[in-house]
Amino acid sequence: MKVYIDYNATTPLNEAVKNAMIDDFAVYGNASSMHASGRLAHARLEEARSNAAALIGAKPHEIIFTSSGSESNNTVFQTMRYLADRSVAKEAIRNEIITTAIEHPCVLNSAKFQQELGFTVTFLPVDAYGKVNIDALKAALSDKTLLVSVMTANNEIGTIQDIRKITSLVKTAGAFMHTDAVQAVGKIPVDVKDWGVDYLTMSAHKIYGPKGVGALYIRDRGGRRAAPLFPLIHGGHQEDGLRAGTYNNIGIFGFGKAAEIAKQRVMEYGKTLFPLREQLREALIKRIPNIAINGHPSDVIPNTLNVSFPGAEGESILLALDLAGIEASTGSACASGSLEPSHVIMATGAEAELAHGSIRFSLGWGITQEAVDYIIDTLPSIIERIRAMSTLA
Ligand SMILES: Cc1ncc(COP(=O)(O)O)c(C=O)c1O
Repeated sequence: MKVYIDYNATTPLNEAVKNAMIDDFAVYGNASSMHASGRLAHARLEEARSNAAALIGAKPHEIIFTSSGSESNNTVFQTMRYLADRSVAKEAIRNEIITTAIEHPCVLNSAKFQQELGFTVTFLPVDAYGKVNIDALKAALSDKTLLVSVMTANNEIGTIQDIRKITSLVKTAGAFMHTDAVQAVGKIPVDVKDWGVDYLTMSAHKIYGPKGVGALYIRDRGGRRAAPLFPLIHGGHQEDGLRAGTYNNIGIFGFGKAAEIAKQRVMEYGKTLFPLREQLREALIKRIPNIAINGHPSDVIPNTLNVSFPGAEGESILLALDLAGIEASTGSACASGSLEPSHVIMATGAEAELAHGSIRFSLGWGITQEAVDYIIDTLPSIIERIRAMSTLA
């Protein structure tokens, strides 16, 4: 039996999204062209924008399309660089960025890059469940803070942050608020207006859309911009001059369709997948001695279960699972391949051994009761065998 249980790394293309994209291949016009072919492509692009906006409670003009979640996040951080450079002559120079120790590498490394270029960057600590320390945030915020970037939900352990509360503190300090919601959209309700964030990042391939398409929400770009944005990619006038390059029509249309479906199914997603996740969690606790569940017990996205198996290395477990047809992950897909312990699990205060032996099961629409039963039947003997052989034991 084959079980793909790595949906936080990426999701398969939804069948309806795939069929819509195949139809869209006939729409070849350049969306910037004035003629009928161009206008048709443009109309489809705007439909996709409306769907992407609706998924997060935004207005269509507040969305720009990018090549990925990574690009959206980089664009926000580079915008801060530009703002800081331009405000040199002003009285209050805001040259501080606050983010967290558990962000995805595309945020962490963007923050570190800005640190090299002169920003003071604070990486907020998290508690044992991966929740951002609010007192540390309050202490770090000042009239020097330009940007705060806190992910909505963590890709490795699934912990959800209280973005509404964090945003209200950030706005009181007069700073801009960004959230990387790549792992949250489609899994839990996301409402940018309710939260009050200035920027929010999405990625199509995490919601059963195509790879290589992302979006960035920028608060109220109509008329006057409430949150500034400067292009990472300079060129033509696409996306209001904020993201140059001929449109990736098919990818964007696919994103729109995936967003439309994700919005319709977001409540059903939790209702369907959380009970399966809970079954897996309870069975593993019962059947395998001495394991630790990473992440928050209740503020967690419904599909993510991260488990540490002390005395067994994560890579060995993954290989054995793979041989049994079960495809999981040791953390973020971007981090695997390196033998570094997970920076997320280390940030929760766990011992390096726990961080080394952690496995992420991320469920998705393809996961059935049969798949969960198969994992429950297969994993205990794998752990027993690896522990018996391990140098860690
Ligand atoms: C939390 C988070 N942010 C950003 C990204 C990057 O998105 P993309 O793959 O579209 O660049 C990922 C992908 O793993 C992610 O999990």
